[in-house]
Amino acid sequence: MTGKGLESVEVGESAISFVEGAQGRLSFRGYPASELARALCYESVVHLLLRGSLPADDPPREIDAELRARRPLPAGALAVIEHLPPGAAPMDALRTMVSALDGHAFPYPPTETQGLELIARTPTLLAAFERRRHGAPPVDPDPGAGHVTDYLGMLEGRRPEPERARALERYFILLADHGMNASTFALRVVLSTQSDLLSGATTGIGALKGPLHGGAPAKAVEMLDAIGRPENAEEWIRAALARHERLMGFGHRAYKVEDPRAEALREIARGTARPERFRLAEAVERTALRALREAKPRERIYTNVEFWGGVVLEAVGLPRDLFTPTFALARTAGWAAHALEQAADNRLIRPDVRYVGPRDLHLPPGAIAGRRSD
Ligand code: ACO
Repeated sequence: MTGKGLESVEVGESAISFVEGAQGRLSFRGYPASELARALCYESVVHLLLRGSLPADDPPREIDAELRARRPLPAGALAVIEHLPPGAAPMDALRTMVSALDGHAFPYPPTETQGLELIARTPTLLAAFERRRHGAPPVDPDPGAGHVTDYLGMLEGRRPEPERARALERYFILLADHGMNASTFALRVVLSTQSDLLSGATTGIGALKGPLHGGAPAKAVEMLDAIGRPENAEEWIRAALARHERLMGFGHRAYKVEDPRAEALREIARGTARPERFRLAEAVERTALRALREAKPRERIYTNVEFWGGVVLEAVGLPRDLFTPTFALARTAGWAAHALEQAADNRLIRPDVRYVGPRDLHLPPGAIAGRRSD
């Protein structure tokens, strides 16, 4: 018998990222994620996750060149975007667009090239979708821009200010991987059947979409809007908890202390958000932590990555419904690394379940006869 929701169950082994929930530490291939986010570019973290070691150069020459070369969309991708239903939510659109990338180029087993293709193309797809829904033509990738800078450039149609691009790049690095989170597990289940990387990635996108995983950051900033001023925080939060609502951006299955990504993102938000927005977020966080301690004294609920992640993405200027799809773009690096790791030592993931339904029932004699009308 295992814990509900597979809590604390080790489903295998991985050498990609290490989540130390009790200590509030996260490392990628042994290096603290917050240190990587301060020092390196996203392409170097892609190198680290996929190849297992730091590159000799930052950006890494080979991986950087491969990512740049793969950013342009294959023929037909824009036609898929044209045919998406008007008003499609960006996360749904991303799932469909990834699914429609050329499946023949992604046969099982997954390869590093396939992983780089997934990482490189998803920002171009999402940016083209975003522009098309506002009636603007897509912007071609700029081979002179880095991965994250180019994502913003393709969204906005102009080269972003370096500070804004760097804030987003640090966000991308911090969210690039995270142990056996729900979307990564879902992807690994799909890969374990010897299905392909695109099928795994679309499954990962589906899992990430839910508010208990990656769907919380827009809701966290909506909470800030609803609270409006620091002095309203106490009453608003206590009323929400009295209604048994969950505060978005708080609590984590693995961390029983502060999520180290929340700490890093708070510092990024301090440097990028408008001062009054930052002060409001700090006041809401303080009040929420106190109220959660009182309302749930047995749970250890702290700020998670989504609260300050939402504040950072807002400060960078992204529309709210791009927050979770942008999280997905950052996570493609982790998904690709996990797909490679799963395939390298694969066994079908097929757990058991304790059956609790009725047994040994039988249809009464004649129960079926005469029922059908056709
Ligand atoms: N607000 C209010 N209560 C909470 C919160 C919260 N944010 N988080 C947990 N709790 C309470 C639950 O209501 C529950 O109390 P109860 O037993 O009295 O009903 C108790 O704490 C345990 O909750 P579980 O859902 O069992 O805890 P779990 O470890 O599975 O939860 C989760 C993790 C799903 C993230 C949860 O904390 C949550 O729903 N948070 C809000 C949504 C959110 O921020 N999602 C983003 C997560 S980060 C990421 O995936 C990238």
